[in-house]
Amino acid sequence: MRKKITVIGAGNVGATLAHWLAAKELGDVVLLDIIEGIPQGKGLDLLEAGPVEGFDVKIKGTNDFTDTAGSDLVVMTAGLPRKPGMSRDDLLKANFNVVKPTIEKVAQYAPECFLIVVTNPLDAMAQTAYKVSGFPKNRVIGMAGILDSARYRAFLAEALNVSVQNIQGLVLGGHGDTMVPVTRYTTVAGIPIADLMPKEQLDKIIARTAKGGGEIVNLLKTGSAFYAPSAAVAEMVDAIFNDRKKILPCAAYLEGEYGINGLFVGVPVKLGARGIEQIIEIKLTPEEHAALQKSAAAVKELVDIIGM
Ligand SMILES: NC(=O)c1ccc[n+]([C@@H]2O[C@H](COP(=O)([O-])OP(=O)(O)OC[C@H]3O[C@@H](n4cnc5c(N)ncnc54)[C@H](O)[C@@H]3O)[C@@H](O)[C@H]2O)c1
Repeated sequence: MRKKITVIGAGNVGATLAHWLAAKELGDVVLLDIIEGIPQGKGLDLLEAGPVEGFDVKIKGTNDFTDTAGSDLVVMTAGLPRKPGMSRDDLLKANFNVVKPTIEKVAQYAPECFLIVVTNPLDAMAQTAYKVSGFPKNRVIGMAGILDSARYRAFLAEALNVSVQNIQGLVLGGHGDTMVPVTRYTTVAGIPIADLMPKEQLDKIIARTAKGGGEIVNLLKTGSAFYAPSAAVAEMVDAIFNDRKKILPCAAYLEGEYGINGLFVGVPVKLGARGIEQIIEIKLTPEEHAALQKSAAAVKELVDIIGM
């Protein structure tokens, strides 16, 4: 039996994710949105790409939650994206009012699913999904760190004119301007980045990474990034369904790790068949530790506003 994946929100991120999932044959896809016709139309269009691309998965667009029943994995992308000049945090209340009732339905129709949250502000929405669903913490995962790290890696590969596959790098912390790139763990084919790039250039790339989402928002003017965000989610789905035990930076519910308690923050986790199988605690310098605490405090502020 193929796995069943529900993607909630058939907008830019959701529809592009459905495309990656189908192309990689990671499972049958249910695409759900509140707008009538959009998920059905995009779903049908994607289904019709199957014979050309050679993927054999079922794709169904719907407005009806009963179609999501028994999903193995649900990805939450519904909500408003950022508009120019809007911070992720401005989105807080609007998207809380979308995420809370939607996750109640997810818990009702797919009580055993893995839940990947994409809706911004990411860490606060992951916390909402965790609290509202009542799912164990290994089954609720926020997507942000893979995207932030991918941006960082793409900029480094471009600057050094090397393959993106040679770049290993980790971005921790909340999704937003307080993210924490751990440059000591950035390597190019195993070579520490400090040996290959002057500090000023690296600092510029880090600053660009922290504002990576805003850079795209300003260019697009009518939406936010979706190719790289949805590719990042597809990597998480692949890691879970294929039990890859891949170490990836994701937002996870921390209970004491890194000195943070009761909060979703981006940290390296091991993703496998049981979802988050381990939270990897790496040794941080006092500066990195302080930056991570600051990032967690920013998440806590949002979580307090919505009472989660
Ligand atoms: N975590 C990350 O790194 C990251 C990256 C990119 C985007 N995002 C976030 O993902 C979300 C989606 O972005 P997008 O670009 O796809 O936006 P979009 O506007 O293109 O799509 C959002 C979709 O959600 C639907 N929707 C709204 N309320 C709904 C509900 N109650 N039930 C079902 N569907 C509903 C809308 O009709 C729309 O089709 C935004 O909050 C955005 O900020 C997060």
